[in-house]
Amino acid sequence: MSEKKKLRSSEWFNSDNKKMNFVHRSWLRNQGYPDDYFEGKPVIGICNTWSDLTPCNGHLRQFAEVVKRGILEAGGFPMEFPVMSLGETIMKPTTMLFRNLASMDTEESIRANPLDGIVLLTGCDKTTPSTLMGACSVDLPTIVVPGGPMLSGRFRGEKIGSGSMNWMVKEKQSNEAFTDADFREAEVCLARSIGHCNTMGTASTMATMVEALGLTLPGFSSIPAADSRKKMYAQLSGRRIVEMVKEDLTLSKILTRKAFENAIVTNSGVGGSTNLIIHLTAIAGRMGVDLKLEDFDIHGSKIPLLVNLKPSGKYLMEDFYYAGGLPVVLKNLMPLLHKDVITVNGTTMAENYKDAICYEEDVIRTLDDPLKNEAGIAVLKGNLCENGSVIKPSAASLHLMKHRGKAVVFETMEDYHSRIDDPDLDIDKDSVIVLKGVGPKGYPGMPEVGNVDLPEKLIRQGVKDMVRISDGRMSGTAGGTVVLHVSPESTVGGTLALVENGDMIELDVENRKLHLDVSDEELVRRKKVWVAPEPMAKRGYVKLYIDHVEQADKGADLDFLVGGSGSKVERDSH
Ligand code: FES
Repeated sequence: MSEKKKLRSSEWFNSDNKKMNFVHRSWLRNQGYPDDYFEGKPVIGICNTWSDLTPCNGHLRQFAEVVKRGILEAGGFPMEFPVMSLGETIMKPTTMLFRNLASMDTEESIRANPLDGIVLLTGCDKTTPSTLMGACSVDLPTIVVPGGPMLSGRFRGEKIGSGSMNWMVKEKQSNEAFTDADFREAEVCLARSIGHCNTMGTASTMATMVEALGLTLPGFSSIPAADSRKKMYAQLSGRRIVEMVKEDLTLSKILTRKAFENAIVTNSGVGGSTNLIIHLTAIAGRMGVDLKLEDFDIHGSKIPLLVNLKPSGKYLMEDFYYAGGLPVVLKNLMPLLHKDVITVNGTTMAENYKDAICYEEDVIRTLDDPLKNEAGIAVLKGNLCENGSVIKPSAASLHLMKHRGKAVVFETMEDYHSRIDDPDLDIDKDSVIVLKGVGPKGYPGMPEVGNVDLPEKLIRQGVKDMVRISDGRMSGTAGGTVVLHVSPESTVGGTLALVENGDMIELDVENRKLHLDVSDEELVRRKKVWVAPEPMAKRGYVKLYIDHVEQADKGADLDFLVGGSGSKVERDSH
């Protein structure tokens, strides 16, 4: 911080208005803070997403204490505050519905209070993008403390990762010997320690994203939650944020367009979740960086897959850490990254990762010997998705990457559930499953249902994959030839709304094409008689969300939240 720049918190504690200084200081004094806490110490807000209802973040209460240690050591004044926490496996109908609400909570909590710097304590899927979006709209010096993945699970001698419950459910369906007691045993084996999902699902993708953006201390994101080094890094982050305030190292100095491009490249290199597209776009929108859907294809689609992690590979996050973790990936990807971008420790990407060592080459590969030659996201265009849709080719079936098949249409998720296993359903292995009504406005909240299960009768015939198309999302632990994020969504009258049973659909991933083989005249006719579905809510936050949420290609933020308002508060409370 330049000598002349005053701390933001001094507007509360040491302004020209002595009466207000008194009010602001006095009530805080009931916590026993001595005089010198209000005389020029940077006040650091610890934004905590801890909640009993967000088990992946259940340890962040202890982590906050460790962060406080670091802040105090560096001469700062720590102030922990709660924000809305989003538990992925618990909340209904989907945490995505509340990501923007949690971001508003974070943004306003930061701006309204006497804070000079921010530590974001994150973990479960949406707790990272929501808090970061909010922090971006205020633009103070900010550092992220990612909560870390769980240790690897083990069930009857076999290593299991988060999401493995799915195969257990399938096993139960086909094997009645798998009892309820077996399920209970499996549950605890699966979630064996504190932390978030232990595959390269959405939470690990988000942690990877923040480190690739330059927002964590180098090497922090891949450390398991239960590892003592996680706490050590949390303490060091507490120390560092105090320095960042002194250096005035705000988010806007780190989150440049180059940083976003680095995050896209890194996501491809680790085989990260398609959910990154939505969240990174929304974060960029808050920073005023014009990130388009096409950028994910331009910068990410030709990147080799370097990590052998589930769901694309075979290892888990604990193995990843022992192999050297993200620092090795970033070192190996460095020829493809912007090397000169500044990160929270004040040095560049290149400098931070140049000495990383790989200890297990089957887990982290090199550019010369990748797991797959091309990972990343393909962005599709065509009359079925005028504003785009996405597919993760590395998770799809090669024989379906160019495919023409007749549509089998489900108008809603409930319609899908009621008919998918109907023995009379007219569907075969070449059909294209079309699911409507699961977009941002339609569901509402764009749930992770795009990778719907295939019909039981086709599974019995040995069919393992089919083309599925929807305006929804897909879990970071899922796979298949699944076209997601179709925009505009069906509920606002996108072409997806007009698809009928038996229409022919062409998917051509190499040429980035998704085409509904129906004439323009017929589509115009169908559009004229199309009736928009009734909104799913008439009041409250959900109505606000439906009225204002943007389409998937724009990050599904609320239109009035895009951009930022800075940290200045013009008026006082008295
Ligand atoms: Fe929280 Fe997977 S459920 S990270």
